[in-house]
Amino acid sequence: MQKVEEELARLVQEVGYDKVEELFKKLSGGKRLRAKLILKIAPNSDQSPLLAAIVELIHAASLLHDDVIDDAKLRRGQPSVNATEGSKTAVMLGDILYSKAFSELVGFSKEIAATIASSVTALSVGEMMDVEMAKSFNADEKKYLEMLYLKTATLIEAAAASAALLAGKEKEPYALYGRNLGLSFQIIDDILDIISDEKTLGKPAMNDYVEGKTTLPYIYLFDALDDAEKERLLALHAKPLTPEDAAWIKKRMQETKSVEKAYDVAKALSLEAKNAVADKELGDILDKMIQRSY
Ligand code: FPP
Ligand code: MG
Repeated sequence: MQKVEEELARLVQEVGYDKVEELFKKLSGGKRLRAKLILKIAPNSDQSPLLAAIVELIHAASLLHDDVIDDAKLRRGQPSVNATEGSKTAVMLGDILYSKAFSELVGFSKEIAATIASSVTALSVGEMMDVEMAKSFNADEKKYLEMLYLKTATLIEAAAASAALLAGKEKEPYALYGRNLGLSFQIIDDILDIISDEKTLGKPAMNDYVEGKTTLPYIYLFDALDDAEKERLLALHAKPLTPEDAAWIKKRMQETKSVEKAYDVAKALSLEAKNAVADKELGDILDKMIQRSY
């Protein structure tokens, strides 16, 4: 991973603007999940650290834009760039990082460049769907999972598939691994939004529903409620929650096993991912990810 950090520092420095370097250093790196996957799938390729850095730059850019879109004040427990520097700077920093990533991507094979580039289109479409879907209560599980696939899984899928290409391995099993890892990761994230507190999350708890995001536990809860309670849940959509309303949602989710159902979906996806690639370390990444919720 040291090499990936070095590549990141080099690429950001090459942009040639101190402010960009300064702001990038302040972004806390996060788990670097996508980079780790690339290094694990293609450990012997000289190009892996650069590809990993490219994908991390794209990911960082997408989060910068996402925090502007969501008007999020916190990212990984730290004030977001839009909170400290304003939205204009956050958007431009995102643009600089992802265009720099693309400048580097053109040096890779056409198939790898196309895989990563098209995933960024998908990711942006997914984000737009997310915004559209948050405008009203969405009770459609399939539609939710499609949006989730685009928004979070496509870049991880593309990272894993590209690493397989670099390593001369079969692409599809790794693509499936990345896809399902991404999906189950996001479902666990949605669960944590409900069951964790702000201190653990590094962002406000129970915030998805306030933002209008009807995640899987909410969809399952809605399904299980009678008409009067459905009305109550719908009336709370996309508004600040009082502690009483938040407690009611949590209690009814517990009683209707809505969080558990979402957790089962995440577990099934993760098991499928594990079976796609017979690799202990890749399996361990999944286990750790699934366990972070309980
Ligand atoms: C986080 O979702 C958002 C994403 C994973 C993707 C965001 C994608 C874009 C903004 C498209 C633009 C892409 C580029 C490369 C500039 P979330 O809000 O559900 O999660 P959070 O709680 O971590 O904010
Ligand atoms: Mg967000």
